[in-house]
Amino acid sequence: MDSYRSRSAAITLWLTVMGLSQPQLLPADNETPPFSTLYKWKNVDFEFPSIRHRREALATGKFVPESVLPLGLEVWGSRIWVTLPNWRSGVPATLATVPRAGGVISPALKPYPDWSYHTALNDDFNCTKMISVFRVNTDPCGRLWVLDSGKINAQDNSVQVCPPSIFVFDLLTDMLIARYLIPDNYVLQDSLFANIILDTKTSDCSDLHAYIADTWRFGLIVFRQEDGMFWKYSNPLFYPDPLASNFTLHGLNFQWSDGIFGLALTPVDHFRERMLFFHSLSSYREFYVPTSVLRRPSQVNNSFSEFNLVGESRGLYGQSSASAFDDRGVMFYGLVSRDSIGCWDSNKPYRKRTLGTVAENAETLIFPNDIKINQGEQQNVWVISNKLPMFQNGSLDSDDYNYRILYADTKEAVRGTVCDPAIKIPIRRLLVNRR
Ligand SMILES: *[C@@H]1O[C@H](CO)[C@@H](O)[C@H](O)[C@H]1NC(C)=O
Ligand SMILES: *[C@@H]1O[C@H](CO)[C@@H](O)[C@H](O)[C@H]1NC(C)=O
Ligand SMILES: *[C@@H]1O[C@H](CO)[C@@H](O)[C@H](O)[C@H]1NC(C)=O
Ligand SMILES: *[C@@H]1O[C@H](CO)[C@@H](O)[C@H](O)[C@H]1NC(C)=O
Repeated sequence: MDSYRSRSAAITLWLTVMGLSQPQLLPADNETPPFSTLYKWKNVDFEFPSIRHRREALATGKFVPESVLPLGLEVWGSRIWVTLPNWRSGVPATLATVPRAGGVISPALKPYPDWSYHTALNDDFNCTKMISVFRVNTDPCGRLWVLDSGKINAQDNSVQVCPPSIFVFDLLTDMLIARYLIPDNYVLQDSLFANIILDTKTSDCSDLHAYIADTWRFGLIVFRQEDGMFWKYSNPLFYPDPLASNFTLHGLNFQWSDGIFGLALTPVDHFRERMLFFHSLSSYREFYVPTSVLRRPSQVNNSFSEFNLVGESRGLYGQSSASAFDDRGVMFYGLVSRDSIGCWDSNKPYRKRTLGTVAENAETLIFPNDIKINQGEQQNVWVISNKLPMFQNGSLDSDDYNYRILYADTKEAVRGTVCDPAIKIPIRRLLVNRR
């Protein structure tokens, strides 16, 4: 069985490397152009080992469908990973996959790598399991990096049941190959490790660094794989903007003071330094820092001026969740108060008039939470939208489609818009407009 699985995974990898596994994706609907909706769910369900296991999990409260919220995603080979944070009790597995191919509207989720890594079907609880996963990220060497906050009930009365940590899986074998605990001195009271992004410029990933956002204690933690070292940057630019902490969407008004959240790396370019772009969730602004600075632990106390503001404010309702760059340097980002996906061609200045909108939809793009762009020749931008504020407010309707995974070709998505790298904007016009 295992050898069969690893063989089929190896074939998938080979096809991916060859650029041949551009599968015929069969979407559930095309209501959000230029995006296609691959899947949509009212509530999510899981592939339990048997009907009896599922019935028991429901009866004992280990599976409460209304408690399960898809939050983050990642795409590699023939699979899509979906994270399911343990914010309320009744989340049986915190990380799962669905096939990339589509063809079913609401597939059941398959726990990753299997049930033994999750809490629901195991009474012998211990911290070898994943507790509450927010985000995952793949590196170019076929490994999945899983950021586990280790914290349950984040919404109401959070409890740190296991230390925050990173699980690393080999995607060919689905075996756990490493586990790194975030050192205690970087885990503050109410720290929330909400995002992770991987940075490597070498083909064997030997220089790999991970950047991790502490959204509630406003830190940026750097991890160096070579020697397992962690260090932490602090900067006022990681804080929420009080004026952007008052959210209003679809009649709900709420206050979130969330700091550094969105992390996006510019493409690897041998002539230009790689930059990490970042922003707080409660903010209308974008910032950047050179990765060469982040990679120098000797500079942690002496880096204030290396963190920079980018261009103009996105303006009112410009709060952004996740963001990602494609290989051409076009950034895509979720605009959570505008039901939309924004774009920016990083070869142009960051100004209101150079920021575009890829799609806006008051039904299908309510709270676009995570954004990823798959590796490979043909790049798609992948979005998960999940109506998070309604989930937290308890006002989700189980008769509606609440959670969606959407995708669009990155080139097609911006064709003809201000974000299209083929469309040049005379600098003079920008300057005139600014006055
Ligand atoms: C934790 O659980 C795993 C799997 O259920 C088990 O193999 C392992 O021995 C346990 N570890 C400890 C320290 O109890
Ligand atoms: C927050 O937003 C609501 C709704 O738009 C508005 O009524 C309220 O005055 C705002 N509060 C502050 C402090 O800006
Ligand atoms: C940075 O400052 C902290 C706190 O003052 C100190 O413990 C640490 O050693 C400093 N790090 C470096 C690299 O200077
Ligand atoms: C949900 O939001 C509505 C409208 O703002 C409010 O009246 C209601 O009390 C909220 N419910 C919960 C459970 O917070």
